[in-house]
Amino acid sequence: MSLRVAVTGPTGEIGISTISALEALPEVTEIVGMARRPFDPAAQGWTKTLYRQGDILDRDAVERLVEDADVVVHLAFIIMGSREESARVNLAGTRNVFEAVVAAARPRRLVYTSSVAAYGYHADNPVPITEDVPVRGSAEHYYSEQKAACEAALREVTAGSDLEVYVLRPCIVAGPKATALADAMPWNQLPMPVQRVAQALPLLKPPFPDPGTPLQLVHHDDVAAAIALAVTTTTAPPGAYNIAGDGVLSMSALGEALGARPVPVPRAAAVAASEVIARLPFVPSSLEWLHAGRTSVVMDTGKARDQLGWRPKYSAAETLSALAAARGHGG
Ligand SMILES: NC(=O)c1ccc[n+]([C@@H]2O[C@H](COP(=O)([O-])OP(=O)(O)OC[C@H]3O[C@@H](n4cnc5c(N)ncnc54)[C@H](OP(=O)(O)O)[C@@H]3O)[C@@H](O)[C@H]2O)c1
Repeated sequence: MSLRVAVTGPTGEIGISTISALEALPEVTEIVGMARRPFDPAAQGWTKTLYRQGDILDRDAVERLVEDADVVVHLAFIIMGSREESARVNLAGTRNVFEAVVAAARPRRLVYTSSVAAYGYHADNPVPITEDVPVRGSAEHYYSEQKAACEAALREVTAGSDLEVYVLRPCIVAGPKATALADAMPWNQLPMPVQRVAQALPLLKPPFPDPGTPLQLVHHDDVAAAIALAVTTTTAPPGAYNIAGDGVLSMSALGEALGARPVPVPRAAAVAASEVIARLPFVPSSLEWLHAGRTSVVMDTGKARDQLGWRPKYSAAETLSALAAARGHGG
């Protein structure tokens, strides 16, 4: 087997690890990545990867990217951003990628990273969530809504085509090369000297509410391994696969590892806060992430293990320790 793989968003937190994993596969002979900013693949030590600057909103650029590929991996997305800007890029750009892949003659497989957020934060979601649970999204959280909409677009655009479509639904991704979760914590945005003083004096540590919602984490290298399996598998059927490291974490463990002071709060308080935010007319998009904490979205990863042969190397706890160490919180 000799595979040419095209990747959108190769420079992101998942993208860098994904390209490294693909570079290591003998059957992958050439990789072409596309994102908007300048980037030097040689600086990563990559030898099979070409990089071109381009925007997934530019249909011509997308068509040129995918036309010579056997497999297309679509990672490009705006995760942290305003509701309006992210919708513009994510919905139109992702549709461009799906349509271009279906229209091109060569690609026979499409791998798309959706998210646990596509399920939505519904009180009647089963625990744990399996892949046959409907992807409903939550309209009050822009990212969840867009992830569900992209999966709906994927089903619509690929219906009736011969394309093999693999959809991965990772939980929150973290690790030394994926620090967005830690970076998003407000106290980690303070100047470093202020952070150091706060860490030295426990009473100054910022409070971190824990409504008892369990949390999954997955290491970027394990997500990359799942993507590499989806690119190359000859046995796992197309379809959706939940991706999460072993074990669950408490919000307290997360807050503590990232330099905060956990404060238990009743689950009802998190639900009430979420309901209030959902009813407000003008909410900063960053606040919409609070909805994610109101209910369990713990996923069952048995299908990825049994059918894709995926074995995560890092548990949720090990992933958190690696993230904390990378952010200087000592694990
Ligand atoms: N990180 C997580 O916790 C997580 C969890 C579950 C699922 N996912 C999904 O996994 C995928 C990758 O996530 P990530 O964490 O790697 O994201 P990321 O770190 O934010 O990287 C996004 C990538 O997309 C590129 N990009 C953004 N807008 C683009 C555009 N208009 N045209 C071309 N490229 C564009 C970025 O480069 P430029 O800005 O230079 O264009 C970058 O390479 C996303 O679909 C995300 O929803 C992520």
